[in-house]
Amino acid sequence: MSLRAVKGMKDILPDEISKWHRLERAFRECVEAHGFREARFPIVEPTALFVRSIGETTDIVEKEMYTFTDRGDKSLTLRPEATASAVRAYVQHSVQGREPVTKWYYVGPMYRRERPAKGRYRQFYQAGIEVFGDPGPYVDAEVIDLVVGFIASLGITEVEVLINSIGGPETRRKYTAALLAYLEPHRDELCPDCQRRMGANPLRVLDCKVPRCGEIAADAPSMLKHLTDDDRAHFDELQATLTTLGTPYRVDGSLVRGLDYYTRTLFEVLGKGEALGAQNALLGGGRYDEMVKSFGGPDTPAIGFAVGLDRLLMAMPEVEPEAHVDVFVIAAQPTVRAEAALLGRELRDTGLRVESDLRGGSLKSQLRRADKMNARIAMILGESEVAAGAVQVKDLLEKTQQTVFRKEAAKRVHEILD
Ligand code: HAM
Repeated sequence: MSLRAVKGMKDILPDEISKWHRLERAFRECVEAHGFREARFPIVEPTALFVRSIGETTDIVEKEMYTFTDRGDKSLTLRPEATASAVRAYVQHSVQGREPVTKWYYVGPMYRRERPAKGRYRQFYQAGIEVFGDPGPYVDAEVIDLVVGFIASLGITEVEVLINSIGGPETRRKYTAALLAYLEPHRDELCPDCQRRMGANPLRVLDCKVPRCGEIAADAPSMLKHLTDDDRAHFDELQATLTTLGTPYRVDGSLVRGLDYYTRTLFEVLGKGEALGAQNALLGGGRYDEMVKSFGGPDTPAIGFAVGLDRLLMAMPEVEPEAHVDVFVIAAQPTVRAEAALLGRELRDTGLRVESDLRGGSLKSQLRRADKMNARIAMILGESEVAAGAVQVKDLLEKTQQTVFRKEAAKRVHEILD
């Protein structure tokens, strides 16, 4: 039997990893510049955490979660997203008592048993932020502006920013009644899932991927027309702030998201380039003002987003892979391999990234390896060099070579690299 990775889950090998590092570094720098601090949550959580927050009638909970019973008979789930974990941690550690506004970010793998496709995986990576304690709408605009700026900084220019408001609980009550009145005559045309969801959570019908349900949803009453005065003022002020910030956006009154916890502001950024194919949602987010309270915490408004890193990478322009070593140390004869190992350590101690091939081999083959690794410098050590306390420093870019005292070698390399 040949063992392979689980369907929809992929290995990321070292040749690809520098792109990931670059992307993660850019994300960290961007959010840290806005005062966000990293939090790490477990990958496995109690199943009830996701059922109660994402919602029992969502696709994620009904069809996509990796849920299992552990040896202690507990139902556990591989996290399909991290907002629920952030809220659990925020409540569990009574964070609200420490600071009025909390700004967290996270980066890591998420798990959804969706049908694998280009840009859609069963293990995928998200980077996200969550802000607790600020009711908006100014922070909503700032969060949207942050992520739009982040995406632009990656060289991804063809994007569309969609925003909507689904209002708070009162708007939702009014809207649900209007939606049900609209859907009722179409009941028999809806898919069995939607017919069932009409009873439990009619808003989910708007998010159904079955084509006929989508057509019916397209003519549904607009949510924006049902906003209460407060919700409307919040949404208007969000738009005014985005305009002040110069952040491009388009209001899409039919935008819904596949998670139940949202209130008021919703947003998504779609990539428009060809690289993405059908899975063009680069990120999604929104406000979830009721969730902390529903988990037993104090009444705390919150907003956040998560970007799909796999999809961002697909949308990013190609760049040259980075070299991962500075110096390749070559033992010219098998007898000096111990000395070569020692030289490697001396160089690393000065902060250089050093590789060598201590199996030995011909000078030519070792030089070829140094080249292949994109090392800037090959440092050659033979019996005569050891005897003289010297090394050969070969600059593989400038194609120059010089003999230097061994104790000067690291300094010379740093000069070349600077
Ligand atoms: P989401 O829209 O479910 O939101 O996911 C956010 C992003 O994760 C998507 O826009 C997409 O780029 C990526 N993504 C989702 N599923 C997959 C998949 N199967 N394969 C590849 N990429 C995928 C959330 O997860 C919310 N927690 C966002 C949030 C944070 N809302 C408030 N705070």
